[in-house]
Amino acid sequence: MKRTIKDLAELKGKVVLCRVDFNVPIDETGRILDATRIINALPTLNYLSGQGAKVVVLSHLDRPKGYDIRKSLWPIAVLLMNKIKANVTFCNSVIGQEVKNRIDAMKDGDVMLLENVRFYQGESECDMNFAKEIAALGQIFVNDAFGVAHRENASNYGVARLLPNAIGILMEKEINALSSFMEEPKKPFVAVLGGAKVETKIDILNRFVDKADTIIIGGAMAYTFLAAKGESVGTSIVQKNSIQTAEQILARAESEGKKILLPIDHVCVRDSDRAKRCLVTSRMTGDMKGFDIGPKTIKLYSQAIQQAGQIFWNGPMGLYEDGRFKNGTLKIAKAIANAKGYSLVGGGDTVAAINSFGLGKKMNYISTGGGATMKFLEEGSLPAIDVIQEKIL
Ligand code: 3PG
Repeated sequence: MKRTIKDLAELKGKVVLCRVDFNVPIDETGRILDATRIINALPTLNYLSGQGAKVVVLSHLDRPKGYDIRKSLWPIAVLLMNKIKANVTFCNSVIGQEVKNRIDAMKDGDVMLLENVRFYQGESECDMNFAKEIAALGQIFVNDAFGVAHRENASNYGVARLLPNAIGILMEKEINALSSFMEEPKKPFVAVLGGAKVETKIDILNRFVDKADTIIIGGAMAYTFLAAKGESVGTSIVQKNSIQTAEQILARAESEGKKILLPIDHVCVRDSDRAKRCLVTSRMTGDMKGFDIGPKTIKLYSQAIQQAGQIFWNGPMGLYEDGRFKNGTLKIAKAIANAKGYSLVGGGDTVAAINSFGLGKKMNYISTGGGATMKFLEEGSLPAIDVIQEKIL
């Protein structure tokens, strides 16, 4: 078990460096489109501030190549000023004398957000000289950035190697939710996987063949699986170089006695149809291209979801951003929202889809991670968690 912030004694007056994941969607006017990750980090920041620590907050935003004003964390600092009772300020650097002076001027309980750590090349490379400069700013390191814990970056992994450390409240919640979901699954365990690319889901698919009872496959990925079974998919997107992998996964599932459900009908459009009319078919032939699961598939998948003891969902069932092809994702989201089993959702796209349908509150657990959640489910831990000290029992 990892040491948590509640295990840290005498925080009053100490400079605590707290890494969070504020990688949130922000539009060109600086408006935050979804503040979920920021809201989820507040318990840790409030706790540290309430204990009288000087809280210096670090985060990345997007993947800038060097300084880019559009990727500044300033809009997030403004939001924090409204959400945190303590005094919140912003510093437009991460390292250097100016940052040190600003920290020296902080009072106990103050919170200061530093600029985007990815403005510095050393961050993603986990340059230990950059990590040392960050570590020199504080006395304790707290990692509450679950969403990026699959990356070994300077400000989440490097700094943890240099300072006494602990995990934050959100990180602890994510670890507990995801670990018990995989280690003590409520049966039957149904995993719903969508999205486009088989190759990005191979490890998680194999993990679910081990752990789940039924795997439901939707999204463009399903066409590669249907092709692997020798079914006709018309001109639907098939990743030819993943067909063999799909065959192996299907064969493994069969030998382990696990069910893999694939679409039995499709919403598609003929390439040759200039009017681009949608049609529903159980067999795509000629120039038919699939974009969503059909009504019979929705029924089949919903029945499995209704019977589940627990459900994991990642990846849309079709091209849901286009209104003509959103029905599959919407109906599956509703089935999961209304299921009696415990529902856990992960992945940026999936969470965005659920929120756009107004169903977020009906899910039992929504993980703040995308890649991090999938990696944690596959491997049971992540590098930036492993590096944190164990709790002294
Ligand atoms: C995420 O949004 O998944 C995390 O913040 C990690 O971002 P990254 O994929 O750019 O490292």
